[in-house]
Amino acid sequence: MKEIVMITGPSLPAIAWITVPALIAGLVNIAEGGEKSTTHRLVVHADKGEHTISRHIYGHFTEHLGRCIYEGIWVGPESPIPNTRGIRNDVVAALKKIKVPNIRWPGGCFADEYHWKDGIGPREKRPSIINTHWGGVVENNHFGTHEFMDFCEQVGAEPFICGNVGSGTVQEMMEWVEYMTSGADSPMANLRRRNGRQEPWKLKYFAVGNENWGCGGNMRPEYYADVFRRYNTFIKNYSGNQVYRVACGAPGEDYNWTDVVMSMVGKRMNGISLHHYALPTGSWTGNKGSSTNFGEDQWFSTLKNSYLMEELVVKHSAVIEKYDPEKSIGLIVDEWGTWYDVEPGSNPGFLHQQNTMRDAVTAAINLNIFNNHADRVKVANIAQMINVLQAMILTDKERMIVTPTYHVFEMFTAHHDATLLPSDLSGDRYAFGDNTLPGVTASASRDQSGAIHITLCNLNPDLPAEVAGELRGAKVGTVSGRVLTVATMASHNTFDKPEAVRPGPFHDVRLVKGGFSATLPPKSVVVLKIQ
Ligand code: AHR
Repeated sequence: MKEIVMITGPSLPAIAWITVPALIAGLVNIAEGGEKSTTHRLVVHADKGEHTISRHIYGHFTEHLGRCIYEGIWVGPESPIPNTRGIRNDVVAALKKIKVPNIRWPGGCFADEYHWKDGIGPREKRPSIINTHWGGVVENNHFGTHEFMDFCEQVGAEPFICGNVGSGTVQEMMEWVEYMTSGADSPMANLRRRNGRQEPWKLKYFAVGNENWGCGGNMRPEYYADVFRRYNTFIKNYSGNQVYRVACGAPGEDYNWTDVVMSMVGKRMNGISLHHYALPTGSWTGNKGSSTNFGEDQWFSTLKNSYLMEELVVKHSAVIEKYDPEKSIGLIVDEWGTWYDVEPGSNPGFLHQQNTMRDAVTAAINLNIFNNHADRVKVANIAQMINVLQAMILTDKERMIVTPTYHVFEMFTAHHDATLLPSDLSGDRYAFGDNTLPGVTASASRDQSGAIHITLCNLNPDLPAEVAGELRGAKVGTVSGRVLTVATMASHNTFDKPEAVRPGPFHDVRLVKGGFSATLPPKSVVVLKIQ
């Protein structure tokens, strides 16, 4: 006979010493009010931390696309919108709160047609070009290298620059790196000084092209590998700066691309990228699905397509492992996120979409995956930071709101540069039709103060999830938590209701002997702090 243990309810004492094995043996399936719930067991190996969760897993992507750069970041120094040297103050303040560690720029597909010398010198003299990828709009190059580096410095993030391989020359790429990082008395360093910047910038991440299997040149992996070897030869480490070289990686499940590039480039690179977008319908050619008008079918399919990231990371990592068992080469997931139909009435080339609780759950799914594979995943960049795809921030002229995805990034800051604590999670799956997904995902880490943080995500939109947590090898004294949850799957923030979705305190958790027990609301993201 199952022992039924009631573990929820604000009227219970803060700490009730129910043993974890008892909880596990008598899994709870009736929550308050007689509502059904799912049950899960999480074992955190607090005595086994080995790998650091790089804070760069929490990176962002900004492209000259739609209203990401222009309006989202850059309004120009003459704008009535409060700015510092042309960069929006409200946006910088919001980004500082989520501790953005790195920012990838200028694309994306735009990167392989971007010529950096168009974007330096007096702004009124910079040439205008047509942004052929994204809406065919005029790009006046007012946001260039100096403005991007200023933006990074204001946010406190490291630059991650993507070089032009598709339509740029080796010389152009070589000179860009010299322009940014050389402190010598050399032509490009002196050009930078004439443009107002004396000291070189620190540039850590530099990618040799973007999606060179597609918009970046339609190359075969064998050809790209040789191109990488050639361009990379001329990317120098000037003045003590060490460039972390990122090779273009695979589109989704193309494991052959990773294999060929790994075998031919090997340790000439420091990391190889991976791009994966989650579309509700999975179709690039037909309707992708609405960002706000969807039912449980598209809730589930979007989560399922997001969760494919687990398989992609595992399988690409296995290929990389063949050539790099020492784990010195990082898997760099430098574009990921949801991709829906654009908002009705908006420019189809601007990729502007709303952001709901569904996006928050997909963000948590992905971030838990990256944390749990911290031995190989060293950098990741959500696409994109502002006004485009799965954005953190939406702007409308002088107004700005943050999205549910932003809140997840804020809640997960506890994991930045913390030690990953391996965990095992088992329990009920979330079923829809003939398909199932894990009902809950989780990751755990210990920060420098010794506090353990556990992030949990309940994928089920209807049922609460009872989690019996065991913390092996750790003494537990207090637990507190925060939760992001809402009434409906499509709940989102608007300029009129900017706080419809925001985190609040989480009370449905308490310590038990050797661990904790928690009840996650349906469709929720929770962070626990245990000391
Ligand atoms: O993020 C939008 C686009 O998606 C990028 O420009 C490209 O790299 C990817 O296909």
